[in-house]
Amino acid sequence: MTHILLLGGTTEAGLLARALADAGLRTVYSYAGRTAAPVAQPVPVRVGGFGGVAGLQAYLRDQRISHVVDATHPFAAQMSRNAVAACAALGLPLIGYERSGWVAGPGDDWRAVPDIAAAVAALPDRAARVFLAIGRQHLAAFAARPQHSYLLRLVDCPESLPLPQAQVVVARGPFTTEADLALLRAQAITHIVAKNAGGTGARAKLDAARLLGLPVILIDRPALPQRQVAGSVAEVMRWLGHSADLGV
Ligand SMILES: NC(=O)c1ccc[n+]([C@@H]2O[C@H](COP(=O)([O-])OP(=O)(O)OC[C@H]3O[C@@H](n4cnc5c(N)ncnc54)[C@H](OP(=O)(O)O)[C@@H]3O)[C@@H](O)[C@H]2O)c1
Repeated sequence: MTHILLLGGTTEAGLLARALADAGLRTVYSYAGRTAAPVAQPVPVRVGGFGGVAGLQAYLRDQRISHVVDATHPFAAQMSRNAVAACAALGLPLIGYERSGWVAGPGDDWRAVPDIAAAVAALPDRAARVFLAIGRQHLAAFAARPQHSYLLRLVDCPESLPLPQAQVVVARGPFTTEADLALLRAQAITHIVAKNAGGTGARAKLDAARLLGLPVILIDRPALPQRQVAGSVAEVMRWLGHSADLGV
């Protein structure tokens, strides 16, 4: 019987959950548990890490999961690697929902860097006002450049911050170009640091940066192991239709 594990934490995973629920496919949505109040989903939800590849394998077996759909963020590489390894070990079908990376167009001033360390190094020497749109996990690396003041946009208000000059805006995407334009202007931002996440939910800050002629230091995606991928909800549903027992 079909039982899908949907690895989530993204806008796209929410859209998939809706489609899977509408199709009547038994699905469990998995959150890592990084945010205090995760978005509600139209399918049952579980929260928290599985305990590495071995823990994920045990979960897949115990819950009699038949298919895994990895719709995690493109920078959630550890989860995606674990899913590939666990599914390969158990012979379970896996598909990754991959959104295309953003590509610079006319008027964009993007400097691509391979990782967080390179993003830190790419900041100017003179004091700048930096919109650090990279989430919460890697903020400490920017403490190496304490001359800058940083604007952070986070889903939850953190209890403490590893940066000396930082201000937090608590907000959850998707964001609009108009709102991000207003934010960049009001905060007198001079530089943006962002991950090349792709998709629509976090794109607005790049469009706003282009309108203001601001430089964007854009961190490339981490490499992932070979796996089957889909680029849309419809493709994932087609994949399931071909390989799933839909008589649930
Ligand atoms: N990284 C980002 O920039 C970013 C941005 C937006 C949203 N997110 C979402 O935030 C979550 C965590 O991202 P991350 O970058 O910390 O991931 P990560 O570095 O790839 O994962 C670290 C560990 O967190 C657990 N984990 C991650 N995603 C999980 C999920 N959906 N369900 C259950 N456990 C999960 C796993 O723990 P175990 O090894 O114990 O199983 C994994 O090994 C992901 O769900 C991702 O979609 C991430």
